[in-house]
Amino acid sequence: MDADDVEAVFPELGSITDGTLREGVATAWTTACADAGIRTPEELRAVPWLPPVERALGIPEGAERLVPHVRDVTACAVGLAGALDERRDAGVDHDLLLAGALVHDVSKLAEFDGREATPVGDLLGHPYWGVHVVASAGLPAELAHVVLSHSHRTTVEPAFVEADLVRRADAAAASAIRAAYVEDLRDA
Ligand SMILES: [Fe+2]
Repeated sequence: MDADDVEAVFPELGSITDGTLREGVATAWTTACADAGIRTPEELRAVPWLPPVERALGIPEGAERLVPHVRDVTACAVGLAGALDERRDAGVDHDLLLAGALVHDVSKLAEFDGREATPVGDLLGHPYWGVHVVASAGLPAELAHVVLSHSHRTTVEPAFVEADLVRRADAAAASAIRAAYVEDLRDA
């Protein structure tokens, strides 16, 4: 997997205008793929969304994948930012928003080996390992903050609007998956 492969899987990468940031996001994914033994875009596209939740909800194996979820989150975050910018000049940094959405779940690759949790997934959880992944890729602390604050599995609350939009977009995208398999989201 190289940067072109990452952009083939995540075409939104090309919308990041800052070259260094774009490169950093690509490096986070290429490194995470190499560490997980993922060699091709097809193998990356086959990574499941979240095996324990899929099992709990009776989601058929292979029905929900990580890549479309990350793209859902990115599209939702961009949509929210666009609506806010149009209505009140929210001053959203679109590069930061796109980069944050694209890397928010990068460490899921280290959390599962196939459908089984690894020690990283079992003992650390992805927001924490994600900080290591994005920092190792040379991405700035703002990106580590987006990763760390996007999940309620940490106590870190979003400090700026881009981090909050990614967190809400992730929750909305996950709800859309759960809603397809349960009658009432309170049961999911
Ligand atoms: Fe996510």
